[in-house]
Amino acid sequence: MPHVLTAAELPVADLLFRAEAWRQRLLAHPSPPVPPHARMVALLFYEPSTRTRAAFEQAAVLLGCHPLTITAEASSVAKGESLQDTVRTLNAQGVRAIVLRHPQVGAPQTAAQVSDAPILNAGDGAHEHPTQGLLDLYTLWLHYGKPDPETRWLRGRKVAIVGDIRHSRVARSNRVLLSQAGAEVWLCAPPTLLPDAPLPDAHLTHDAEEALQNADIVMALRLQTERMAQGLLPSLNAYRRDYQINTERLRAAKPDCVVMHPGPIQRGVEISDEIADGERSLILAQVRNGVYVRAAVLEYALME
Ligand code: NCD
Repeated sequence: MPHVLTAAELPVADLLFRAEAWRQRLLAHPSPPVPPHARMVALLFYEPSTRTRAAFEQAAVLLGCHPLTITAEASSVAKGESLQDTVRTLNAQGVRAIVLRHPQVGAPQTAAQVSDAPILNAGDGAHEHPTQGLLDLYTLWLHYGKPDPETRWLRGRKVAIVGDIRHSRVARSNRVLLSQAGAEVWLCAPPTLLPDAPLPDAHLTHDAEEALQNADIVMALRLQTERMAQGLLPSLNAYRRDYQINTERLRAAKPDCVVMHPGPIQRGVEISDEIADGERSLILAQVRNGVYVRAAVLEYALME
């Protein structure tokens, strides 16, 4: 019974092919017949979510499971119940898997220690968001014509991830998977929003021009104000001026570069409308692919 806790431990090639099988299946039968909802999958969300939650709920239904969504405000968590006790409770009720989003780094590992059902990390604090990393990778894999995923198929591609790197679990999971596939990863943010120490698998810069120069892939990230200590960002206007992904800034990138964003987007802050809605944007493809990838990951986790 595999847990899905970090990006590095994902069987990437297997999951890309599973996601692709789900995409093909759903393209052929947009409303597939689903088996009766005999199995339960719990979605335990201690932080807000739209895309991730909706995709996991759909994935559960596609796999013939009933999604049981529990949000922190509307559960016994609000009465002081610990994560471990909530997980034990769901196990006692026979759920087959628990999808967990939590503000604390390492919460999925803590949950995994007391759970008989697989735990799927749907984002833990500023740490990891492995299924987002995987759906971004899948989106690029489709975009580049499904190269052999066992190879370093992103070799020679430059990826610029621009935004609140310090607090971004998306940046971390993406960095792992993109560099594993051979991409040259650049992480770009104002100095206060960059990691403190150098990283083995990425270049760090606070110069957006340097990050975007000849980039094939540009990924914008939301400012994670809910995780920021006060004073880390001097002004939103200065951020827009120096880091917003807009038409002018993208001139430094390759003409055929693609633009990504995990959402939610703060339009006019980290990305301009014309780029978010423009022809180079893969943003809605990412959202769509999120369903296939969550179906793949859940299918993998539910393997006996
Ligand atoms: C991200 C998250 O929650 O980590 N969103 C998502 O899952 N699509 C990014 C964010 O909140 O900015």
